[in-house]
Amino acid sequence: MKLKGYVLLLLLLVFSCAIGDDNQVTLSTSSPNGDIKVKLQLNTEGAPFYTVTFKNTTIVDTSFLGFEFLKAPELKSGLKHIQSEVSSFNETWEMPWGEQRLVENNYKYIKATFEEIQSPNRQVIIEFRVYNDGIGFRYEFPEQKGWTEALIKEEHTEFNLTENYKTFWIPGDWDIYEHLYSTTKLSEIDAQSYIPKTNLAQSYIPENAANTPVTMVGENGLHLSFHEAALIDYSGMTLKVDTANLTLKSSLVGSENTAYKVKRTLPFHTPWRTIQITDNAPGLIASNLVVNLNEPNKLGDVSWFTPMKYTGVWWEMHLGKSTWDYGMELVDGKWTDTGKAHGKHGATTENVKRFIDFSAKNNIKGVLVEGWNTGWERWIGFEDREGVFDFVTPYPDYDIDEVTRYAKEKGVQIIMHHETSAATQTYEKQQDTAYALMKKYGMHAVKSGYVGKILPKGEYHHGQYMVNHYNNAAIKAAKYQVAVNAHEPIKATGLRRTYPNIISREGLRGQEFNAWAGDGGNPPEHLPIVAFTRMLAGPIDFTPGIFNIKFDDYRKDNQVNTTLAQQLALYVVIYSPVQMAADLVEHYEANPEALQFIRDVGVDWEKSVVLHGKVGDYVTIARQERDTGNWFVGGITDENSVSLEVDFGFLDEDAVYEAIIYKDGSLAHWNDNPLDLQIEKQTITKASKLTIKLAEGGGFAISLKKKLN
Ligand code: NOJ
Ligand code: CA
Repeated sequence: MKLKGYVLLLLLLVFSCAIGDDNQVTLSTSSPNGDIKVKLQLNTEGAPFYTVTFKNTTIVDTSFLGFEFLKAPELKSGLKHIQSEVSSFNETWEMPWGEQRLVENNYKYIKATFEEIQSPNRQVIIEFRVYNDGIGFRYEFPEQKGWTEALIKEEHTEFNLTENYKTFWIPGDWDIYEHLYSTTKLSEIDAQSYIPKTNLAQSYIPENAANTPVTMVGENGLHLSFHEAALIDYSGMTLKVDTANLTLKSSLVGSENTAYKVKRTLPFHTPWRTIQITDNAPGLIASNLVVNLNEPNKLGDVSWFTPMKYTGVWWEMHLGKSTWDYGMELVDGKWTDTGKAHGKHGATTENVKRFIDFSAKNNIKGVLVEGWNTGWERWIGFEDREGVFDFVTPYPDYDIDEVTRYAKEKGVQIIMHHETSAATQTYEKQQDTAYALMKKYGMHAVKSGYVGKILPKGEYHHGQYMVNHYNNAAIKAAKYQVAVNAHEPIKATGLRRTYPNIISREGLRGQEFNAWAGDGGNPPEHLPIVAFTRMLAGPIDFTPGIFNIKFDDYRKDNQVNTTLAQQLALYVVIYSPVQMAADLVEHYEANPEALQFIRDVGVDWEKSVVLHGKVGDYVTIARQERDTGNWFVGGITDENSVSLEVDFGFLDEDAVYEAIIYKDGSLAHWNDNPLDLQIEKQTITKASKLTIKLAEGGGFAISLKKKLN
């Protein structure tokens, strides 16, 4: 990888802080463009606090920082300033795959060491990094005498906000992010209104908190999104909402098994607490704050993983056409074919070959096979799930040797599936064997799953135990050249920069809810919110591309709540280096004209440009494919129709492009007429502008191939 970087060490302001009579101290810095200013201070009690302004308006007012420990006094006041460094950093790094190839990482920082004036004289370093698109800050506990282990009961990081923002939020569930978003005033957030939950395998919402990213829009167009970066060996942070004081407070995910929430040996630092700050919605999506705050690539060359579109034995199970399980029985602890096979098993050699043939014909490089291994008869609703799944034993009707041989012959890769059923110890014990099996077959990507209550009992999906489980699984997988796409995961925090085999994840209400949710599925506003919330965290395995929108042959009471044109647009709007063409082969074959877009669309990008955006309403993104230089544009809207002017000024100078435009027909509507799709061909240049009408719940997709002169 070519890394072009330089460090600007301007140790300008070391000790330039004003140390007042009462041990007060003020350290300040700004973003490189000067719009964002941060001050880190100690008050008269020696309590650290910070403030943030954007274009001279205070957006985070006096907000205190501190910790509560088990078996040690709290650390939130009585500090003195020891030393600090105020400087800047600038580099450009390259994404091995991503929304763009080159990323600028340019910030100014304050790194300040504080020490308790009185015994036990503990030290903490607080670091702020200020970018043009937001801020990140974290705590570091350096090696020090007499303090070797920290048992953190709670982190007390505050975000004292200055406006009652319009807020797009999901509850601070300790187990799952698969909730619909609410749009309310900050003062009206009520996470517990989500109890009782529906359709969820597991959910725990202990207090009025939100999961991040949580995004806010102000009266004057200020856009903020709160999240975290580099979540390693720590528990996930939810944001507790003090609705009366418009203040968010960190509230870490805990465990029933310990009186603390995080256990660490010193030295260590916390994840970064991040605020993306822009004055327009597209700027949130364009922001690289979260990845930039992560460490550089530790894996080196990961070219064994190639971004790809994929199909698979998946949607058919969610529709009820076939099943994951085969119909085996546990006899003396062994899965046995006792002649009770029900004949609806989906992952058969023959069925997978259909997907391989279809993919090979349609420029799709991967096929996911779910339900290939024994154990599915007991995967959900059982208390005792340890030891039920293994990740090496195929069902009798799945010939893994033959399938992988055939796939190779056709130039397609099989994507492995490991549903752990949240039985983490079974999975940890088997990971080496499971990844080695993949290596043997030349499989380089696995989709993993964590449906259900975590085993060991008392742990939560987003606590420190699981953060370590997810991260360790990815690190181990890398040793076998395996890339990971986890479902029911911990949230993305930009770790893909450090471990670029962490390719994608779920971590939201995905397409599957449209197949079976009892609440009508994902409403049309879902994805126009997701693009400005969940997607700011990182790649999403949303599994778009459902052509048979109503699927009445399978489930009369469910449907996808978008138009067909929007399903195409999602390949561009929703970013993931693995992008599923999720529908059944027969549904694609019935509509070859629309399928052409899925055949053509890229999946790895040189650059991305966000053309329009309004959080919760609509978004348009243009992306240029790395290898070909072709451009693709996708736009989606919520339940309201909208006309958007696409200005093609992002195209190359002097080039002429052959465009295929897939847009909602004049009668299109997500519910009344979702299949009304109009396809047009047109010549487009950098000077072109097109006004496109998106229907209610609709969208558009455009492919632009350079014409050869
Ligand atoms: C839930 C996942 O979200 C889904 O994609 C998968 O098919 C099932 N678990 C089974 O693993
Ligand atoms: Ca799921």
